[in-house]
Amino acid sequence: MAYSDTQTTALIDLPDDAPIQLFDLKTQQALIRPALEQRWIDILDHGRFIGGPEVTECEEQLAEFTGCADAVAVGSGTQALVMPLLAMGIAEGDAVFIPGFTYNATANAVLLSGGFPVIVDIDPNTFNMDPADLVRKIDAVKADGKLTPRAIMPVDLYGLPADYSAIQAVADAHNLRVIADGAQAFGGKDQGRWVGNIAEITATSFYPTKSLGGYGDGGAILCQDKDFAERMRSIRWHGTGDNRKESVRVGINGRCDSIQCAVVVEKMKLFEAERERRIAAAAIYDERLEGIVARQTALDGQENGYGLYTVRVPNRTEVRAKLSDAGIPSGIYYDMAIHQMPAFSHLAEEGSLPNCEAAAQDSLSLPMHPYLSANQVHKVCDVLIEAVKA
Ligand SMILES: Cc1ncc(COP(=O)(O)O)c(C=O)c1O
Repeated sequence: MAYSDTQTTALIDLPDDAPIQLFDLKTQQALIRPALEQRWIDILDHGRFIGGPEVTECEEQLAEFTGCADAVAVGSGTQALVMPLLAMGIAEGDAVFIPGFTYNATANAVLLSGGFPVIVDIDPNTFNMDPADLVRKIDAVKADGKLTPRAIMPVDLYGLPADYSAIQAVADAHNLRVIADGAQAFGGKDQGRWVGNIAEITATSFYPTKSLGGYGDGGAILCQDKDFAERMRSIRWHGTGDNRKESVRVGINGRCDSIQCAVVVEKMKLFEAERERRIAAAAIYDERLEGIVARQTALDGQENGYGLYTVRVPNRTEVRAKLSDAGIPSGIYYDMAIHQMPAFSHLAEEGSLPNCEAAAQDSLSLPMHPYLSANQVHKVCDVLIEAVKA
């Protein structure tokens, strides 16, 4: 892909006295705005608001960038999870294994498909699905005999890929499919492979605050099998065949519109340079916070895409208040594990997923975006270090 030098070198540090933000979409917007304005004009002129040439352009660039066989742009990250489940024929009585510390969309996607989400505990260091607990949960489902294990849906939380080497080995041993929920992780890597080219199928989200976001809802299915991708293209258009009239299978409106695809194409031109800057900010956090607070840590051979930078602090309420008093925003993703939410309380007993429940109590996400200056990151560290001591 041709990255323009002017765009990649135009990335800037915000002034040290600029407000520190959890995410920053405006600085980036200023860089891509002229190109986007031209894109709007082009789209208004050709008038193909759905299924315009921007959709194919976006899909080709996603596949080229990640190295996956094919990419299908869809209407949201949630649709990118539901559609592969539909294509696999997941239905009542089928178990899909998900981690218990994730955005609610992961559980919703499985329930919407008709499957049953079986919740797996997380590893307290990576915040991602614990492969050892996955094995225990598969064995328990098999022993119980009421559900049929069909698929595993690991989540790449905060930008860090799940432990796919271990999870794929478990999937192979039990003949299960793997659908990666990479909604937060575009830009993550495992053993040199980009998220989107690690698992057989990966869902990603273009929600605006994601590392690769649009200016509205959108997402993509990145997969290793071109025939599977064609099925996704049929499913996203109500399951129709080539003439887009008769449904040849059950489908939904899963389309991503031309405008969102154009935004993603323009943002991709900045993506690698932005990712480098996220990694540079994270390196400062890592160095300053070493030995002071526990942080999300990558396994050997993994690279975090740093959608978020997340630490664990026992006195979270006080720490947040002190950060806020110093003008520093922070975020909690998430203050409830999946089975602690009313809609999902039937999925697991309180107390049965200790690492998920602990993470819901003490995880705290710090400002992370490509335009933070080094001094801004140091300021966050100064305040955080004082606050955790108190
Ligand atoms: C882990 C995870 N899965 C799925 C989704 C759903 O993506 P979307 O909001 O684009 O539907 C999100 C979005 O925040 C997410 O964080």
